[in-house]
Amino acid sequence: MIFVTGATGNIGSELVKLLVAKGEAVRVISRDEKKVSHLDPAVERVIGDRHDPSIVRKATQGADKVFMLAVLFDKNHEADRLLIEETKQAGAGQIVMVSSNAVRLEGNLIGRLHREKEELIEQSGVPWTFLHPGGFMSNSLQWAEAIKSQSKVFNPMGKGKTAPISPFDIAGVAAVALTSAGHVGKAYDLTGGESLSTPEQVEILSKVIGKPIECVDIPVEVAAERAIASGLPEPLVKSLAQLWEQVRTEAYTFYTDEVERLTGRQAQTFETWCREHRSAFV
Ligand SMILES: NC(=O)c1ccc[n+]([C@@H]2O[C@H](COP(=O)([O-])OP(=O)(O)OC[C@H]3O[C@@H](n4cnc5c(N)ncnc54)[C@H](OP(=O)(O)O)[C@@H]3O)[C@@H](O)[C@H]2O)c1
Repeated sequence: MIFVTGATGNIGSELVKLLVAKGEAVRVISRDEKKVSHLDPAVERVIGDRHDPSIVRKATQGADKVFMLAVLFDKNHEADRLLIEETKQAGAGQIVMVSSNAVRLEGNLIGRLHREKEELIEQSGVPWTFLHPGGFMSNSLQWAEAIKSQSKVFNPMGKGKTAPISPFDIAGVAAVALTSAGHVGKAYDLTGGESLSTPEQVEILSKVIGKPIECVDIPVEVAAERAIASGLPEPLVKSLAQLWEQVRTEAYTFYTDEVERLTGRQAQTFETWCREHRSAFV
């Protein structure tokens, strides 16, 4: 049985579908029963919080493999420590963790937090596979409100290009790592297949939803102030601002073809992702 954390999120929801389609026994966890009520009846559900030891014990019991989506901003990595410890106690044979490509960035809090979680897994002795994706296509869901209300996207990354990855492709790689041999002890750098600037992404999305969208260039500091005002934690915003600056100055451009190599199919295009999520923007 494969225990999937984050099963209601962007990656986890795709992963559950892929694993069920492969005929795997799957267990998920969510704090909200309603968010998992639509799942295939064969999927086992544990309802509760990953900080609750009895819930995590119940969820990991009998698991052969665990898909770990980190609880990123968490005091002393409490939930992830618990998951790793209970995974070890349950005798599971592998943890596949969604980490981040930011582990490579010196002094970046997002990178440091992910690396600390990787170290906890390494120290536990449970065999591991780490996924190191760059920015997700689903980050553009954050544009939805301004697109709907003002037909605008506010962009701190200038014309810097990235190769955003679809959560579907991260899930595809995770499914391969969880269900085939040869992935233990490996860390995979993952990107999408196209290098696109934010204005280019906005143009694609505009075509898909059939309305003009203005891509408004704003300084990194202004975007950071707005993000803090919207309620995002300041340390998160500081690390995001560092990433935006790196993209803006093209210091954070990287591309890999690991999705195609590992899944055997081309990475999803941004246009396909936009078509599949069109309803969020109209
Ligand atoms: N966005 C990026 O560009 C990027 C880049 C590199 C790496 N990453 C990594 O990817 C992660 C985001 O992945 P995603 O977009 O698939 O996630 P997401 O859509 O934000 O979903 C978060 C999931 O975590 C679960 N969760 C959170 N706290 C929980 C708790 N206390 N107990 C139980 N479940 C809990 C939620 O479950 P319920 O709400 O159902 O309980 C939900 O399923 C980031 O945190 C980061 O680690 C992101």
